[in-house]
Amino acid sequence: MKKFLIVPSLLSANFCYLGKEIKKVIHAGCNLIHFDLMDYHYVPNLTFGPMILQSIKNNGIHVQFDVHLMASPVDSLILLFSDLNVKFITIHPETTKHLDRSIQLIKQIGCKVGIALNPATSLSYLEYIIDEIDLVLVMAVNPGFGGQVFLKYIIKKIRKVRSLIDRRKNDILLSVDGGINFSNVVQILRSGADILVIGSAIFHSSNYLKTIQRFKNSFL
Ligand code: DX5
Ligand code: ZN
Repeated sequence: MKKFLIVPSLLSANFCYLGKEIKKVIHAGCNLIHFDLMDYHYVPNLTFGPMILQSIKNNGIHVQFDVHLMASPVDSLILLFSDLNVKFITIHPETTKHLDRSIQLIKQIGCKVGIALNPATSLSYLEYIIDEIDLVLVMAVNPGFGGQVFLKYIIKKIRKVRSLIDRRKNDILLSVDGGINFSNVVQILRSGADILVIGSAIFHSSNYLKTIQRFKNSFL
């Protein structure tokens, strides 16, 4: 059986009960949570920032975060995520003038580095930095909103990134973000995903535990 991780995306949670929502997915066995920061500049939507993670930490909720920065400029923002239980910080190459510098900043604050590729973004961005990063996040929708439809041509891209990673023989993780549901999850896993970022299919369901369980069993 293939090993993979379900990472719930808070973007589709009920913000009125954020703490409770997080506890529910932790209860379902998820110990990494996706946190979509949007700035209304790089993407046409506005979400949340590091203060929310500080509040979650101060209130004793023990979980790690996978921070997806959809913001430009990004360097000064990266530094604000230090010491907030953040495991990965993922950035889009288009949001920074000096990608290597931004990567080094993420490392400086003790986080793992993710690179997000929009549907139309070329894999060539990875060529020289591949040995500097820990995760590639393949976007299967245009960044900015939850609940969008999975772009089918991204399957080919997931396979390409998979073979690129396998050729390097290091342990870079392949994460897929956007539009994942029960009808496409098996194909996404077969194409080589290690991490599934799932928002609306979990948080718009009536029972998170059962939904997450069903996703976990989808490749049995
Ligand atoms: C979109 C975000 C995603 C989003 C996924 O810009 O990066 O993380 O929350 O949500 P669903 O699963 O609803 O597509
Ligand atoms: Zn995301």
